[in-house]
Amino acid sequence: MKILGISGSLREASHNTQLLRAAARLAPAGAELEIVPAALLKAVPPYDQDDDVPGEPPAAVARLRELVEGADAVLVATPEYNSSLPGQLKNALDWLSRPIAESPFRNKPAAVVGGSTGMFGGVWAQEEGRKVLGALGARVIGGTIPFPRIHEGFTAGGTIADDDLAAGLLRLLAELVDEARVRQLAA
Ligand code: FNR
Repeated sequence: MKILGISGSLREASHNTQLLRAAARLAPAGAELEIVPAALLKAVPPYDQDDDVPGEPPAAVARLRELVEGADAVLVATPEYNSSLPGQLKNALDWLSRPIAESPFRNKPAAVVGGSTGMFGGVWAQEEGRKVLGALGARVIGGTIPFPRIHEGFTAGGTIADDDLAAGLLRLLAELVDEARVRQLAA
C-alpha cells in the first residue's frame, strides 16, 4: 500500500515536508509513505492551456502524474500562503486536472494536512486543498487538522510534539489507508 506525500512547500527546511516525514513514521502497518521531491514540484512549468497538448506533457508533469497514478492514496501537507494554497501546488494540481476524466486523482483517496507558523494552523489552505482535490475527483477524507506554530511543533527526533495532533494524524492515516483498501477490494 503506497501513500504519496505531496508537500506544498518547495523550501528545503519546510515544516510541512517535516510533517510528511513524521506522517511516514505513523503510517499503518503495510503502508509506506513516499514523499514527492520538492525539485520535481518546482520543475512543473506554469500551466498554459496552449502547452497542454494531449500525449505531450512536460516531463515533470508526466512524472508527477505517474507518481499519483502509482499511489493508492495521497496525503498533501501544505503551508498556507495568503489564506490559500501555495501557487506552485495549485499549478501542479491544475496540470493534473486535465483532461478531467483522466485525472490521476479520480477516485483516489486523499487527505490534506498542513501547518503554519501563525495561530490558525493553516486551516484555510487545508480547506482549499480539499476543495481542489474534490474538484479533481479525489475521494477526500477526514477534515482539517489545525497545526499552529508548526515551527515549534516537532521534537528533536522529528516526531510531532503534541499528542493530540499526533493522534489526529494517526487516525487520518488509518482512515486514508482503510479507504484505499476498500477501493482495492472493490477493484
Ligand atoms: C505565509 N505564512 C502564512 N501563515 C498563515 O497562517 N496564513 C497565511 O495566510 C500565510 N501566508 C503566507 C504567505 C507567504 C508568501 C509565506 C512565505 C508565508 C506563513 C507560513 O505559514 C510559514 O512560512 C510556514 O512555515 C511555511 O511552511 P513551510 O515552508 O515551513 O512548510
